[in-house]
Amino acid sequence: MTAERRTKIVATIGPASTREDLLSSLIEAGMDGARLNFSHGTHEEHGESARLVRAAQAAMGRPIALIADLQGPKVRIGDLPAPVELREGEAVVVADQDAARGDDLPVAPGVLAGAAHAGCDILIDDGLVRLRVERVEGARAFSRVVTGGVVNPHKGVNLPGVSLPVPSLTEKDLADLDFALGLGIDYVAQSFVRSRADVALLRAKLERAGSEAWVIAKIELQEAVAALPDILEEADAVMIARGDLGVEVGVAEVPLLQKQIILSALERGKPAITATQMLESMIARPEPTRAEASDVANAILDGTSAVMLSAETAVGRYPVEAVETMAEIARAVEPSLGYRHQLPAAAEAPTVGRAMSNAACDLAEALSAKAILVPTFTGKTASAVARLRPQRPIVALTHVLGSLQHMALEWGVTPLEIEESTDVDDLWRRSIDAAREAGIVSEGDRVVLTAGTAVNIPGSTNVIKVDTA
Ligand code: PGA
Ligand code: MN
Repeated sequence: MTAERRTKIVATIGPASTREDLLSSLIEAGMDGARLNFSHGTHEEHGESARLVRAAQAAMGRPIALIADLQGPKVRIGDLPAPVELREGEAVVVADQDAARGDDLPVAPGVLAGAAHAGCDILIDDGLVRLRVERVEGARAFSRVVTGGVVNPHKGVNLPGVSLPVPSLTEKDLADLDFALGLGIDYVAQSFVRSRADVALLRAKLERAGSEAWVIAKIELQEAVAALPDILEEADAVMIARGDLGVEVGVAEVPLLQKQIILSALERGKPAITATQMLESMIARPEPTRAEASDVANAILDGTSAVMLSAETAVGRYPVEAVETMAEIARAVEPSLGYRHQLPAAAEAPTVGRAMSNAACDLAEALSAKAILVPTFTGKTASAVARLRPQRPIVALTHVLGSLQHMALEWGVTPLEIEESTDVDDLWRRSIDAAREAGIVSEGDRVVLTAGTAVNIPGSTNVIKVDTA
């Protein structure tokens, strides 16, 4: 069996990785997706990162998914004249910025009026400080300190389980989105998604802008967990955003939720990205902790499509080593992954495409084919095959650059560029030739191909062909 890595790796680009030679090293180490985090940095910096990622991609000859991660409606502490120390049992007032008086702790955007209520908690700085609301007057929440600590200006604020009256895309998000679309990004990651409608709103904006970018819904709120099936219908992919999710639901709930979210995404053939603190100690050290190595391995065994690095590659001292470590762990654990194709499609009406994918995997297995070749227009057929987690390599072939870059994040899929075909025989031949040129199959190897015979019409998968390279 092949030693190719199947799980994809997303690395966040920041000051520690914005250099073309470093980006080439990250790609060589195994980076498949590059994430621009719009919670930090300027447009100028992200523009430079995007340009360098594309240059490194061209130099290395491998498609890279470029992801713009929007900050979303993140609530923060406002300006403070000085850090505030809070002691357990003390009374404190948290207020929407416009309504704050005297020593109130201001928050922005204003979310307390009409949302905060007696009994709810206000968490500050990833939950390091916890307050409990005792009563609310207008936009001021009179609270008691449950866990004390120092509050610094602009730290993040979470109100677990509280539905916040703010738009899903802030003014900043809209400006960032506009800028990011100009960079030719492949995916937009949407933070603090609450519902299917939030995702639909972003999708409508993308459509209006004529963008082909796909939407990654970041699951980091209780509301999103509750609405997951609906969100998965609308989004193209999901991210298990364990940082904020851990603050919102409590860290103890995260491991099982991770498994459930991955499984739900798999059942719908949508990629799932597991994110945050995967190799956190590698920000400062060249070796991960054993717990971190296990975390990456377990996410892979859970069925994740991709694993993500944040600060490790954005600001850490060992960005290349972090990617290498993930790739090594993936290669070590993947041979133990289960083969899913025999599972029935859960609770969904069978489609021709799905049945064809299943049969293609069966054939590839029964015939010990060297690879499953999937000529595809949008990449959706490759996703449908990937969701079955076949042991045989999946090679997706297309002339559409955007599709190659989308598929860079799809589990087990090697995206290869081919020239546009005029008829189906031409398509089969080009596909086999490309897989041979890439060294994935050799002359005489058996391959299974699956595609639509109505060439270049999306969603028309209707043929499986067994051939010899
Ligand atoms: P963030 O999202 O890094 O943009 O906050 C990921 C997370 O919350 O885990
Ligand atoms: Mn987050």
